[in-house]
Amino acid sequence: MANASGNESIWASAGLADQWYVVAETTDLDAARGPIAVGLLGGTYVVWRGDDGAPTAAPDRCPHREAPLSLGRIEHGCLVCPYHGWTFDRDGRCVAVPSSGAGSAIASAGHLRTLPIRERYGLVWISPGTPSGEPPHIPQDGDPSFRRLNSGVETWAASATRMVDNFCDVAHFPWVHAGTIGSDTDPVVAPVTIEPLDADFTGYQYTVEVHDEHGDDVRQRMSTGFHLPFLVRSNTTFETGRRAGHDRVLLLCTTPIDGVNSLFTFVSWRNHDHDVLAADALAFDRAIGDEDRAMLERIPGELPLDNSSTVSVRSDRLSVEWRRQLASLVAGADSTT
Ligand code: FES
Ligand SMILES: [Fe+2]
Repeated sequence: MANASGNESIWASAGLADQWYVVAETTDLDAARGPIAVGLLGGTYVVWRGDDGAPTAAPDRCPHREAPLSLGRIEHGCLVCPYHGWTFDRDGRCVAVPSSGAGSAIASAGHLRTLPIRERYGLVWISPGTPSGEPPHIPQDGDPSFRRLNSGVETWAASATRMVDNFCDVAHFPWVHAGTIGSDTDPVVAPVTIEPLDADFTGYQYTVEVHDEHGDDVRQRMSTGFHLPFLVRSNTTFETGRRAGHDRVLLLCTTPIDGVNSLFTFVSWRNHDHDVLAADALAFDRAIGDEDRAMLERIPGELPLDNSSTVSVRSDRLSVEWRRQLASLVAGADSTT
């Protein structure tokens, strides 16, 4: 895997394998009407939905002659390899080898190793390892006063390490986001205290003045935190402006395809503007994301987890803590100590 940063071992580490990653939206599986290929941590996986609607994920490699199973098709809920037609059920069991005839015995090595998989928040989560928990809990998802909006999945030519660092950082707002939220905002970032925000996210709370999509100054009470390895959540309560008293949750999901390419998608929950079309409601957040992407795709390589080769200041405190915990996770240590 490309590596100019000194992060040689992180992408293949068990610490990263044993986590949940967003690889698609649930609607992507529905729309495909067949298997899809997803890249994750240097590997490629096939994901498909069976007849009963349940999704299955497995390495995108047929045990017979290594054809990409994602090029196959679904028949009766089973995945059929495009090369010789070996057929796999939702548990990865090889249930048919056409060349051997019906009822032939199938060696255990002919079955697929399926991956842990979940559908949550309109997202498909898989883990190439053995996750100890579930994807993080977003309580607003079960609150009927909140509407959930999914953005679609993009591929960014940027390292997940640089993306999460960016999503933890508000000091870039007046510069990168001058065209959206950042114009004329005070560039000084007040000292923050990093603390557990809840059981799933670590971050800080702050108040910020930004421009909304109407160009109005809005005062927002916010918290921004990370969930290892590559999720960032920002909670907002609007204190002024036309949405005063309302709330919004933004979950930024970054999935490393490899060291320098990543999937990106976000989910927004909001208890306001329910009558606005989803595309219009997401347009401003998309524009902000495009500004970040334009910057991040210009920065080559990975962000070193070792903080000794970059210079960090007060406003980088959350990113520094995220990198510290990520390095511990990769090293197999207790990341919170
Ligand atoms: S390579 Fe898949 S059936 Fe032969
Ligand atoms: Fe940004």
